Amino acid sequence: MQKGKAIFYWKKWKQTQSLSQSHSGCCSPKKINKDHLTDATSNGEVLRAGVFGISSKKTYRGITVAVKEFKENGSHSLVTHEASVLAKMEHPGFPLLFGCCTETKPYLLVTQFHGIEGHCVTFKSLVLRNINDPQSEWCRIMYECADALYYNHSKEYLHNYLKGDNVIINENSHSLHPVIIDLGKCSTIAGGKIYHLSPRDQEKYRKYHKHVAPEVVR
Ligand SMILES: Nc1ncnc2c1ncn2[C@@H]1O[C@H](COP(=O)(O)OP(=O)(O)O)[C@@H](O)[C@H]1O
Ligand SMILES: [Mg+2]
Repeated sequence: MQKGKAIFYWKKWKQTQSLSQSHSGCCSPKKINKDHLTDATSNGEVLRAGVFGISSKKTYRGITVAVKEFKENGSHSLVTHEASVLAKMEHPGFPLLFGCCTETKPYLLVTQFHGIEGHCVTFKSLVLRNINDPQSEWCRIMYECADALYYNHSKEYLHNYLKGDNVIINENSHSLHPVIIDLGKCSTIAGGKIYHLSPRDQEKYRKYHKHVAPEVVR
């Protein structure tokens, strides 16, 4: 086997090892019965149709939840990985995990619905809104984001997919709090990757993936 290929598979193996070690000792996420999920509104509100599937607002045993429905080709490990990481995030800056459905496809991930007056508001969309006392509110929101990330790192994880629509805003007692979502790309700190982009890829990333760190896309 070529040296390059051997290194690639060794790194993959190392990443899997460190992920399975970090999941050990963590109770596995609860299996949710699909029959207990009902549409929150008569037309079943879709929050977003993304690359990996559709997220929608539903009701689970009387509680409003966000349900991420993975595409047919979405693997079992994709769902269980995101659920296992979420289950370890005991911090208000991450959504509360209710559980997942991995018995039959489509696989589902169920978390508490976070929003403002029943609507999903992302960090990206909040930027365009007028809020009261913006200077101190935004300072606090940014501080809370940093605190949640600090917690994520203290659990030896890297989020790897931070961007404006992967942070949602929860209104609680008339104040706004950020909640970091979409933990499917989380890796352990030890399994983190350094990207080296070719000039052509840099052009592509500058255009389509503006959230990627500027030191990676120069
Ligand atoms: N717990 C939640 N509460 C409210 N809205 C959510 C929640 N989780 C996800 N969403 C909404 O669904 C969208 C897609 O969810 P996400 O987990 O980022 O999946 P994707 O992989 O499709 O990006 C988010 O950008 C947000 O608008
Ligand atoms: Mg997302």
